[in-house]
Amino acid sequence: MSGIIWGGLATCSGLSIRLAPASVSRYTSLSHPLMVLLAAVFLAFTAHAQSPPFQADSNRGARLFGELSCAKCHNVNGRGGNTAPDLGRLADRNFTPASIAATMWNHAPAMWSAMSARGVHAGDVDEQVAADLFAYFYSMRYFEKPGDAARGKRAFTDRGCAGCHGLTQEIHPGMPPVSRWENLNHPVALAQAMWNHSPGMLAATGSKRLAWPELSAQDLSDLLVYLRNLPSTRSQAAVFDVTAGENGVALYSSKGCAGCHQSATALANRIKGRTLTELAAEMWDHAPKIAAAGAAPVQFQPGEMRELLSYLWARQFFEDSGDAARGRRVFVSKHCADCHQNASAAAPKLTGGSQTFSGPSMVAALWRHGPAMLTSMRGSGVPWPRLSADDMSALIAYLNISNKEKR
Ligand code: HEC
Ligand code: HEC
Ligand code: HEC
Ligand code: HEC
Repeated sequence: MSGIIWGGLATCSGLSIRLAPASVSRYTSLSHPLMVLLAAVFLAFTAHAQSPPFQADSNRGARLFGELSCAKCHNVNGRGGNTAPDLGRLADRNFTPASIAATMWNHAPAMWSAMSARGVHAGDVDEQVAADLFAYFYSMRYFEKPGDAARGKRAFTDRGCAGCHGLTQEIHPGMPPVSRWENLNHPVALAQAMWNHSPGMLAATGSKRLAWPELSAQDLSDLLVYLRNLPSTRSQAAVFDVTAGENGVALYSSKGCAGCHQSATALANRIKGRTLTELAAEMWDHAPKIAAAGAAPVQFQPGEMRELLSYLWARQFFEDSGDAARGRRVFVSKHCADCHQNASAAAPKLTGGSQTFSGPSMVAALWRHGPAMLTSMRGSGVPWPRLSADDMSALIAYLNISNKEKR
């Protein structure tokens, strides 16, 4: 069982982020810290059953981005140089580790020319560094639809919240007004508070003969933006605590998910392509089903739902889903096989060995061996092969399968 932990805080060190109230008074400024909060999440994933665990940390990635000179040419959302593409944009294009590796691969020769023209020597990039950089790029883009306060205001009424919860005053005994809600710092935290209180809410729903108010991810984001920006809540500083100790795997079984969903892999396969906020909304939506099934209510400590959902989310995000058969065809048609399966070509064998490949490892290989490979290609008249994101993930799948028996 291997795991990669994406962790750390993108813009601050230590165990919590405190946002100045002024910086959260408008959603446009909130959206960035929110994304930072999500970046701070611990994301555990299994890339390959046999690969060693390593930690990918967006905070470290941010530092490396400067130290390795990337920032001399590139910026990320406006910070850094401007002679090369903004790497914050990468997260917009169906961001996956393989897609980043493919993009870098395609642009590498032009990037190397820019480096020699400007006399910049970028530092070494190994698999760990590449993973940290990916975590950083990822963290710099909030990957979900932004919320809208006017829609949130409507949802608060339409979804029935306003029937039980006042904004500043308790309108029904035992139903706390929004000004007393503790968790308005991000969608997963709100979902966690709602989940923890769902047995009480469910009971209140029953007595008022109301249907359980289902929420979409958009509803959740909208509600949050609306509620955060009320005069009565605006003074709440957003505090984000990183939990230590239990990880996603342990939470998955201790919170009873395994009882109904069996393996985390099975659940991860069902949630392919979903965002963290969508998962948070789904958690809320199925609280009554869990109660109906007679399962004992489980409570989440601060940070635990974030850790659990991040773990599930990241599993599907990073899982290699490339098509190995296609990868084999790419390997031949892009001429990789000409050199890498040809004993006389003086290129290392990539198949039938014991290496494990991933998005980060491909970037590291490109960084370390790419310039020599380019020279070798020029020598044999092979143009630099361009790879799509699908080509890259297919190649990774093919190389891993061909190496599997040796591990
Ligand atoms: C000397 C300037 C320079 C440095 C230093 C540099 N790059 Fe680049 N990079 C470029 C240029 C120029 C391009 C665009 C090449 C092209 O147009 O094909 C590029 C392209 C890229 C791309 C593809 C971007 C896209 O949106 O298409 C990635 C990813 C990338 N670089 C990552 C890095 C990382 C990570 C580092 C540091 C380890 C780094 N670069 C250091 C100049 C640089
Ligand atoms: C039928 C009444 C009812 C409805 C409808 C309802 N709630 Fe609640 N809610 C409650 C009760 C009762 C509690 C307190 C439960 C407890 O303490 O265990 C509660 C607690 C909460 C809490 C926890 C507050 C804290 O102490 O931090 C949040 C957050 C919350 N509700 C959000 C919502 C949202 C959002 C909606 C609309 C989608 C909603 N509720 C709809 C009755 C309701
Ligand atoms: C009592 C059984 C039960 C428990 C316990 C349970 N779930 Fe579920 N869960 C379900 C069912 C049934 C569905 C499918 C809901 C549907 O189809 O509408 C579901 C759906 C989901 C979904 C949406 C996936 C999809 O296919 O759309 C997620 C995410 C999820 N559960 C996460 C969790 C997590 C995390 C836990 C542990 C905290 C958990 N569940 C605990 C029964 C359970
Ligand atoms: C013209 C010959 C040639 C072609 C074509 C070629 N390579 Fe290479 N490749 C090399 C050489 C030579 C090296 C070793 C460079 C060095 O010594 O640093 C290398 C190194 C590598 C490495 C690093 C290996 C290691 O030891 O970690 C990887 C990964 C790689 N190539 C992948 C590919 C892929 C994928 C393709 C097809 C898209 C490809 N190569 C096409 C010649 C080639």
